Amino acid sequence: MGSGHEGGAGAPGGGEFYSPLYNPDTGAYRFLIDGEWRDSASGQLVHNANPSKGNERCFGFQACTRDEVDAAYAGAKAAQRQWGRIPLNKRASMLKAAAELMRQHHAPIADALIREIAKPKKDATTEAKRSADLIEYAAEEGCRSLAKGDMITSDSFPGAERDKLCMAHKVPLGVVLCIPPFNYPVNLAVSKIAPALIAGNACVVKPPTQGCVSALMMAQCFKKVPGIPAGLVQVVTGRGADIGDYMVEHPGANCISFTGGDTGLAVSRKARMVPVQMELGGKDACIVFPDADLDLAATAIVKGGFSYSGQRCTAVKIVVAFEEIADALVAKVEEKTRKLTVGQPEDDAQITAVVSAASADFIQGLVEDAVAKGATMRTEWRRDANLIWPCLVDDVTAEMRLCWEEPFGPVVPVVRVGTEEEALRYVNESKYGLQGCVFTRDIDRAIGIADRMETGTVQINGPPARGPDHFPFQGVKDSGIGSQGIVNSIEMMTKVKTTVINLAKPSYATA
Ligand code: G3P
Repeated sequence: MGSGHEGGAGAPGGGEFYSPLYNPDTGAYRFLIDGEWRDSASGQLVHNANPSKGNERCFGFQACTRDEVDAAYAGAKAAQRQWGRIPLNKRASMLKAAAELMRQHHAPIADALIREIAKPKKDATTEAKRSADLIEYAAEEGCRSLAKGDMITSDSFPGAERDKLCMAHKVPLGVVLCIPPFNYPVNLAVSKIAPALIAGNACVVKPPTQGCVSALMMAQCFKKVPGIPAGLVQVVTGRGADIGDYMVEHPGANCISFTGGDTGLAVSRKARMVPVQMELGGKDACIVFPDADLDLAATAIVKGGFSYSGQRCTAVKIVVAFEEIADALVAKVEEKTRKLTVGQPEDDAQITAVVSAASADFIQGLVEDAVAKGATMRTEWRRDANLIWPCLVDDVTAEMRLCWEEPFGPVVPVVRVGTEEEALRYVNESKYGLQGCVFTRDIDRAIGIADRMETGTVQINGPPARGPDHFPFQGVKDSGIGSQGIVNSIEMMTKVKTTVINLAKPSYATA
């Protein structure tokens, strides 16, 4: 953290649309509260780094104070009371307008993603557009699902007369604290915000340090929609270490939706008595049976393992290959891995710098440990600052950290197994349980092992992935709690309210 006038990497593109976010006097980005872009009273800034430019300073943004957190929650609650009374169809129209603004103004968001999280250009553009689609789908889904409720009559209960009619419908929880991670600071923000809003909630958003400016730009797409109450989407910035606990423990938070790493375990312990939705790490296994289509499996492993340089919780993080086909499979994976382009996100290289030097050091430590314990490098180890060349590590065994820990980088380990029981060990003994995938031509075998895999999702003949964004998405064990995806998030961000009509006499008695 530094003083208020140390500057940042520069103003956003996109002309007038995004210019209020940036204060040229401080060279830093403002935070969003009650419909205004403001500088923090702290006078302090936080800076993030450009991962692909030697971690040089990238963007500066506000280090918000606790008073500002209090004000954000208070303003969000006031906005929520107003928003919750706007007809559902009008809320949906306003969300669709936000989606449209995001589509129109996606290029500067993509540019910020390139600069602050080194996301390859094509993926950065996809993230912005996918987010617009997600908002639109949430608006439509909410319009359908939130319109329905139950009507329950009293006389089904033993001894009761038909003199009470119970109407059960869904109401908003209030204010949802949304904490997205660095790897999808826009998409995993809107995956929380859009379901929350269509259900009638307001949001307080705490963006990650890396990815903060992209998230601020995303928020502008909601702020600019006519009719959306000021304060409905508040964005409070600063280091998690300074304000994170305060935001999580705050009495103004009626629900918490978090995506990230192990911090989520602490968040879930600190949360008050509110619904919590957590998506944390994963060690997604790819089990390849002897009868699998090896070309299909190899393509999925390379896509699943190396997209965004492996920095996805759904990345393939361990390949479990049956001995009979392991040599052939690894050869195919190696060939494809060697073709991946490595370089700058602006040039749309497939492998770009990982998010920080600390992350690169951690990844290197895992690989060194594996090699020291007898693993075989199928590609040459190469690193330049945060940039790590794609790394395929064969002959990994259970004694190696790489077998169990999540690199969150461009590293794919391979273990070889002889039986299904052995294969399952690498799934079910993991502390994680997000997704897994199975490659076989035998559907009975696929379903049989899928049923035994202790993960939130199993993909058959395809790589792990969260999308399409309306699919349920959940982890077990240390991978999370609750189920996400547009449909499930809307459900989770509401509670049932019942209104009971007490009749003067049982309804059938009037006949
Ligand atoms: O790491 C975040 C996780 O949600 C991955 O999403 O879309 O890359 O499968 P996706």
